Amino acid sequence: MDRYTADNLANWNAVVGKAGCNSHRHRLLGIALDVARDTADRLGVDARFVVSDLYASPLTTGSMIPQRQQIPPMGETMRVGTSMTDVVGNTPVVQLHKVVPNGAADVFVKLEWFNPTGSYKDRMALAMIEEAERRGDLRPGMTVVEYTGGSTGSSLGYVCAVKGYKLKVVSSDASAEEKLRTMRAFGADLTVLKSDGGMVTPDLHDRLIDQASKFAAEPDTYWTDQLNNADSLVGYRTIGLELLEQMDRPIDVFCAAVGTAGLAMGVSAGLAEGGSDARIVIFEPASTPFITKGEAGTHGVEGIGIGFRPPLLDERRYDEARAIDESDGRAMARRLAAEEGLLAGISTGLNVTGAIDIAKELGPEHTVVTVAVDTGLKYLAGDLFST
Ligand SMILES: Cc1ncc(COP(=O)(O)O)c(C=O)c1O
Repeated sequence: MDRYTADNLANWNAVVGKAGCNSHRHRLLGIALDVARDTADRLGVDARFVVSDLYASPLTTGSMIPQRQQIPPMGETMRVGTSMTDVVGNTPVVQLHKVVPNGAADVFVKLEWFNPTGSYKDRMALAMIEEAERRGDLRPGMTVVEYTGGSTGSSLGYVCAVKGYKLKVVSSDASAEEKLRTMRAFGADLTVLKSDGGMVTPDLHDRLIDQASKFAAEPDTYWTDQLNNADSLVGYRTIGLELLEQMDRPIDVFCAAVGTAGLAMGVSAGLAEGGSDARIVIFEPASTPFITKGEAGTHGVEGIGIGFRPPLLDERRYDEARAIDESDGRAMARRLAAEEGLLAGISTGLNVTGAIDIAKELGPEHTVVTVAVDTGLKYLAGDLFST
């Protein structure tokens, strides 16, 4: 049967029964469209068909959907998950235009705020929890413990909420209030330490880690210990693999700012695994140039510049480290919103500032890729977008 009509609709149970698990929804969509077209024909209505189905695929674009429809090919469509942990990853990539000067390489940004809590940390949190479950280190009834600038805690909060673990988190008032509230919303038991006037100072991480290690000494706890946990690379590796699938050209440089360095190291591994020879460039805030100069300082960029060398940072997995001015990163975050419609956080501003510097050096016919770490909605109550 080539086409379904209102009259032969009764046949579709049999059709769906025969169709495979993957294809039956596409088949259903096609049937629904055919029936809609048939009904419109009978009524003499010049109808437009808008496909809002999540399973649009080449099968449906092929024979059954009117030519004027633009259906994204399979893989670019959203999936339907059975739980919130099924919808991590597969984030879109967008090219920047207005903030990139003429004569520079093309700059692309992978929009990681499309993850459930609006941050790439969801990939890491899910990987840390599921790898621990797989090894048997984390079992039902246990409490997960972590210190966090706020993003990892929010991501762990959502994963623990889905999986039914209790979560005990140590954070500080240097983190955005939105992130602290997000952790509480997911049901985390939150301890907030006082920072030095809302700034990230070298001693802050020591105090966070010290408090977390005390919680982790309690029975039936599992400390995800993000700074030392290579499971995060399992989660971030997929960004590299996705990029190679998404981009229609070679990537010359992938660059990103580092906190734990999990993202940069994981993406580097994924790109290498997929056969890319992209150069990997890492960034840190210029006011705490520990990786580039061995000097720790104070800064206001949440999540990066931890004041010491992150244990996950592996010299074999990056080519160059650069220090970027925090104020340039903040200005770029504002320009990204106002000129590109890309509302992201401060570390994203830093990533794009560094990516554009590299793009200017490389010139046309080259491609630089970085990530939008998280959504700017997490920073609306702070000073980033207050002027
Ligand atoms: C907002 C933000 N940007 C960047 C980073 C750095 O990512 P990574 O720890 O993977 O190096 C983090 C990590 O906490 C973060 O929260």
